[in-house]
Amino acid sequence: MSNISIIGTGYVGLSAAVCFASRGYQVIASTRSADKITQIRAQKAPFYEPALERMLSQTVESGSLKVVSDRAEAILRSDMTFISVATPNHADGSINLTYVNEACEEVGDALCDKKGYHLVVVKSTVVPGTTHAVLRPILEHAANKTAGDGFGLCVNPEFLRQGSSVHDTLHPDRVVIGEYDARSGKQLHELYDDFYSGAVPIMRMSLASAEMVKYASNSFLAMKVSYANEIAGVCERVPGVDITEVMDGVGVDPRINRKFLNAGPGFGGSCFPKDVSALMRFAESRGCTTSLLRAVLDVNTAQALHVAEQALTALGTVSGKRVALLGLAFKPQTDDTREAPALKIARKLMDAGADVCAYDPVVVKADVPGFGTLHSTRSIDECLRDADCCIIVTEWDQFKALTPGDFTRQMAAPVVIDARRIFDPVTFRSKLTYIAVGLYAPESTPRMTHTLLS
Ligand code: UDX
Repeated sequence: MSNISIIGTGYVGLSAAVCFASRGYQVIASTRSADKITQIRAQKAPFYEPALERMLSQTVESGSLKVVSDRAEAILRSDMTFISVATPNHADGSINLTYVNEACEEVGDALCDKKGYHLVVVKSTVVPGTTHAVLRPILEHAANKTAGDGFGLCVNPEFLRQGSSVHDTLHPDRVVIGEYDARSGKQLHELYDDFYSGAVPIMRMSLASAEMVKYASNSFLAMKVSYANEIAGVCERVPGVDITEVMDGVGVDPRINRKFLNAGPGFGGSCFPKDVSALMRFAESRGCTTSLLRAVLDVNTAQALHVAEQALTALGTVSGKRVALLGLAFKPQTDDTREAPALKIARKLMDAGADVCAYDPVVVKADVPGFGTLHSTRSIDECLRDADCCIIVTEWDQFKALTPGDFTRQMAAPVVIDARRIFDPVTFRSKLTYIAVGLYAPESTPRMTHTLLS
């Protein structure tokens, strides 16, 4: 059984580390963050991911997972190294390879001192061509060895979702392996065949195709969300049309499928916005027009602002009015607020003079660009108290359980904007002012008789 080292302990690196370690592999993870090392050794996940924390605890306890700061030590004590450091974007949206370049430099340096063959696997998301044209030369130069001879080289994109990282790592739809040469690909293929007992399809292809699969997958999913949000905007102007019913009808077609067709306040997180932007910039740098990718991002930006507009319209005079946001994380089961729609909505409302407060079950502090730390409350009740409008921004289970009475009891004016479509329109409209993404608003337009709400 191979010994595995993993560089980077973000969602991807730590999930891979914990899952390999849980199946008996000896894993050494390395991170430069002293805080993360302390947390991991104390069996605590450095971010909110409950299932991961449970397995982290077991694997650290059993000794199958170790964490070190010295990357060279991790590499020298293993047979293969997964590089899973962040690849953020530059200000113009293009990919920033600083961390992955540095990691390759250090892997190469360590391989220079190591006898024998070692497999290097790039798990970080990089634009097509990067591993071959940028990372391979860095590795070869630092290692003073040649790829395919002195060391193996693969690309292995990761498709896990935050909030279900362990489940997704243990039960992926597919494993994609980009291989520099057949020997490299075969070694990684054998590792995954062993890890998944042959139960998961393994697809082997060129390095650059594997890199592209990740961007093409994320862009397609982001496109589905933006498509649902654009159709939702049309639904809001037609009596009797409800986006949820529409997408149920659309998604039953297996050529389309229902997943990622939930209209909402727009997508956020560390992947969709970053990867669509990076692909767009990459394509433009190659002389391609990317009207579709641009539209995916434009629709997404407009959607969060549209939700804020729904609130502003409902409020009328805004100054001094209080708006309660339920949910800050970009989706449930995570404490991540990167690119979260909640912050874009908060900013627009605050710009208009509203007093905004928020409650999220796991996010305790969030900053709104230009306004500083958002006023976070410790409970739903505290958040709703005396509010003139409430926006459901993240579909946490705690919020799904709320009844109209929970809002009418606490709020100064019971206006609910359901941006995640978690409530029943008929029940809520009978008790309070209920406005929702993708649902015709009878308050703003004369209501006609129709099947949905009559
Ligand atoms: C995504 C991809 O799903 C995953 O394969 C990749 O590895 C990383 O990026 P993640 O960002 O964790 O995962 O979250 P995901 O569940 O995909 O949701 C992304 C965003 O889209 C969230 O803000 C979510 O609320 C939004 N979304 C998703 C919708 O608004 N509607 C949907 O129907 C689905």
